[in-house]
Amino acid sequence: MRYAALLLALFALAPDTPQTWDQTAIHSLELPLANPEYSPVHLDRDRYYQISERVIYKSYPVFAPGREPAGYGDWLKTRDPEIIFPVNAPRDEDAWIAAGEIVFNAPTSLHPVFFSEQNLRDPNFFKETGMPVAKDGTIPFARWVVRRKGIVELGSMSCATCHTRVLADGTVVPGGQGNNPNDREGALLLRSSAKFMPESKVLAQVRGFARQFEVPWVPGDINRLPESMSLEELAAAGEAIPPGVTARANTSILLPPQIPDLIGVRDRHFLDHTGLVRQRDIGDLMRYGSLAQDMFAADRYGPDKTEPPLPAARYSDGQLYALAKYLYSLQPPPNPNRLDASAARGKILFAQQKCGVCHTPPLYTNNKLIAVEGFTGSAAPAEVMPIHIGVDPRYTLQTHKGTGYYKVPSLRGVWYRGPFGHNGSALTLEDWFNPARLEPDYIPTGFKGYDGKTRSIPGHPFGLSLKPSERADLIAFLKTL
Ligand code: HEC
Ligand code: HEC
Repeated sequence: MRYAALLLALFALAPDTPQTWDQTAIHSLELPLANPEYSPVHLDRDRYYQISERVIYKSYPVFAPGREPAGYGDWLKTRDPEIIFPVNAPRDEDAWIAAGEIVFNAPTSLHPVFFSEQNLRDPNFFKETGMPVAKDGTIPFARWVVRRKGIVELGSMSCATCHTRVLADGTVVPGGQGNNPNDREGALLLRSSAKFMPESKVLAQVRGFARQFEVPWVPGDINRLPESMSLEELAAAGEAIPPGVTARANTSILLPPQIPDLIGVRDRHFLDHTGLVRQRDIGDLMRYGSLAQDMFAADRYGPDKTEPPLPAARYSDGQLYALAKYLYSLQPPPNPNRLDASAARGKILFAQQKCGVCHTPPLYTNNKLIAVEGFTGSAAPAEVMPIHIGVDPRYTLQTHKGTGYYKVPSLRGVWYRGPFGHNGSALTLEDWFNPARLEPDYIPTGFKGYDGKTRSIPGHPFGLSLKPSERADLIAFLKTL
């Protein structure tokens, strides 16, 4: 352990590393919440740096059932534990990026979160959840970790657990809109626990988990519903969340967000669908990573002045700097779609429909925010467009990330991602531009909604009045971006 501490200290000496918990930068990091009196107050700098830095052990790929090389399990047991981050302060940009890739893939939890070791050895688990497998037979969402020789632990909850996409042909796209079916896995875990544990105990556990999403200052808070939902209803709510959408800290299990594509994140002025976090420089991305994985748990809201207990670990400044550089280096997979005659017509339609007012080339976003109906920000940032577009306001009014705004997302890479919209309600672009989605009897093709009922996907009327052939052309164009 001493040795690790020494290495960490050495690493911290790397020049130019921004300080993650710079008090001024942390204080001005976020927009106010929709109800500004309840904006989060983050831990102060001194206490932040008292938290132990995360030690990253060497980890190994997890294979799908039947894809493991012969003798792999026994081989893992012969591995010596090895602390791999940091080894030395990276000397050049490539070394920083390589170090960041390690952090991106490093599990932060060795407890089963979405799946257990047993699940990952069970072909039925893959069938039931639709868990995708990479070309080489691995599952990029989890890793085997060796902290003590002979003991192999299953780790997950790395950035890669949610931010890695496996394409239909098995290509792995790090940073892409993740398609690990997290919440379906969670639902299966619920159902299987209920087979060997009293239902009341399972219910108490899941309700305890759900309590973190409650937003007590919002009248009629939807996130209180789990208190009165049955186990069956809670499992069904998890199953309604498709891969590409997930409930994580500070979001909501009943109103989960789409997982954003991190490829191209460097160009975004705001992070999160609600634009909660500003990205003024690389330091802000480091702050985002630290908050999202660990530090959110130490936030205080509103008049409650009780100090929450310190999180067990935090990433070091060096780890976060490497991670942010890695995210900035990510590239999209090669695009197979060409600007053919149909796409060329679509390009003209894109201009005629004035999509570029918001989805402005070359980023295909103007990096601005749009307030939802009924919300008038007291301190509206300069980047707000003076327009409403009728999108479902609940995520931005009824969660801990709710600012009252949604940001204009980039359209680059829509060909390899989905489902679409801030909560991933439309599975495909065809569905996003289908005018039937506005009707109350519509059944969303992506995120269904926790109550399994019909529901419109309101708002964003752009492109909905096109003729079917024009719609096809527009989509053909979007798929070239
Ligand atoms: C449990 C799943 C999960 C894990 C683990 C996770 N994320 Fe995310 N991430 C999400 C979801 C969901 C959102 C969308 C939140 C929102 O819009 O409110 C998100 C949003 C983001 C964003 C904002 C991007 C944008 O354009 O809005 C960044 C940056 C990000 N994550 C980075 C990371 C990094 C770095 C890690 C690891 C340190 C990580 N995430 C771990 C699920 C996850
Ligand atoms: C007034 C600004 C504005 C205009 C004009 C506009 N959009 Fe959007 N677009 C948005 C916003 C905001 C969202 C995010 C909606 C949400 O949060 O659910 C969005 C979302 C999208 C998405 C889903 C992206 C994703 O990753 O989920 C697509 C695709 C899209 N727009 C295409 C278009 C096209 C094509 C046009 C023109 C026909 C257009 N938009 C016109 C603001 C606009």
